Amino acid sequence: MKALMLSGGRGTRLRPLTYTGAKQLVPVVNKPILWYGIEQIVAAGITDIGIVISPETGDDIRATTGDGAQFGAKITYILQDSPDGLAHAVKIAQPFLGESPFLMYLGDNLIRDALSGFVSEFVERSLDALIMLKQVPNPTAFGVAVLNPEGRVTRLVEKPKEPPSDLALVGVYLFSPQIHQVIAQLQPSPRGELEITDAIQALVDTGGNVTAETLQGWWLDTGKKDDLLAANQIILDETLGHHIAGTVDDATQISGRVRIGKGTTVVNSTIRGPVVIGDNCRIENCFIGSYSSIANGVTMLDVEMDHSVVLEGAVIKELHQRIVDSLIGRRARLVHSPKRPKASRFMVGDDCVIELI
Ligand code: G1P
Repeated sequence: MKALMLSGGRGTRLRPLTYTGAKQLVPVVNKPILWYGIEQIVAAGITDIGIVISPETGDDIRATTGDGAQFGAKITYILQDSPDGLAHAVKIAQPFLGESPFLMYLGDNLIRDALSGFVSEFVERSLDALIMLKQVPNPTAFGVAVLNPEGRVTRLVEKPKEPPSDLALVGVYLFSPQIHQVIAQLQPSPRGELEITDAIQALVDTGGNVTAETLQGWWLDTGKKDDLLAANQIILDETLGHHIAGTVDDATQISGRVRIGKGTTVVNSTIRGPVVIGDNCRIENCFIGSYSSIANGVTMLDVEMDHSVVLEGAVIKELHQRIVDSLIGRRARLVHSPKRPKASRFMVGDDCVIELI
């Protein structure tokens, strides 16, 4: 069994962060989203992993994730020249996949359930496809499946305007090599892509053995800011251990589970976990409330913050209002200015969102 992780795409819903980096490398609890999937795949016993990358962000993914040694895996990078769909990604990965069955994982998805049970079921029942489903309140945003009373998949529709069910296709799939035959016959969808949803429908139509499992645990598609904050909250809640490597002065109060990296200094602050703070940060006169993740090299001075993610090298100083539900990009500066006239001054990149009181 091999695995194929898809880590291309433009990441338009996470702009502006994705102008300068891959959406799959945006961190959740200070670790790239993509790495959670890799770790789950390895935990299920699959170590031969292909990662499909795009020309825009591929180098970044390759440099960060490496040859797989750090995960106990062997990673092969596969370049997809243009974002022509998930089934197109499978098509160009065929030389890597060969005649092997494979697990496909979308690099911006996270699921709670371990993969090993699904892999065993797929192998034991000799399936052509095993798809995972989750009930969602907004099925128009996903691929959607219809099941018959026996629980067999009868119909799949990508981003339906009028959803025939509320069962969304989760971005984790298992396929037999049969999928290559149907993809070879596939026509682009109205949005111009070769859809994996259409490929699975073709498997169903040609009598393939396609089964669906409903996920028991949570599923997060981290493609948008609020989903990313939700993922950060859940992972902090479920996995964070308490460990202080940096220096914390006596005036600082820490409660709950808090992880502070090496070289970080915390002065006269209150930190209420779960909170993670990376390496080489300076946190002074701050309140950092629950569900915040602060990456390496961040400076925060006289700041109150809750439920937010701050990326590497950002500087936040002397704000007179609390920051909540925010995602602050690499090297961003949010600072108080005493200059006259007393006014707000912005140097804001494309597609940024600023909500003032
Ligand atoms: C893709 C699939 C869709 C699936 C979703 C899960 O959509 O096309 O069927 O439900 O991933 O994240 P995308 O996120 O590429 O729009």
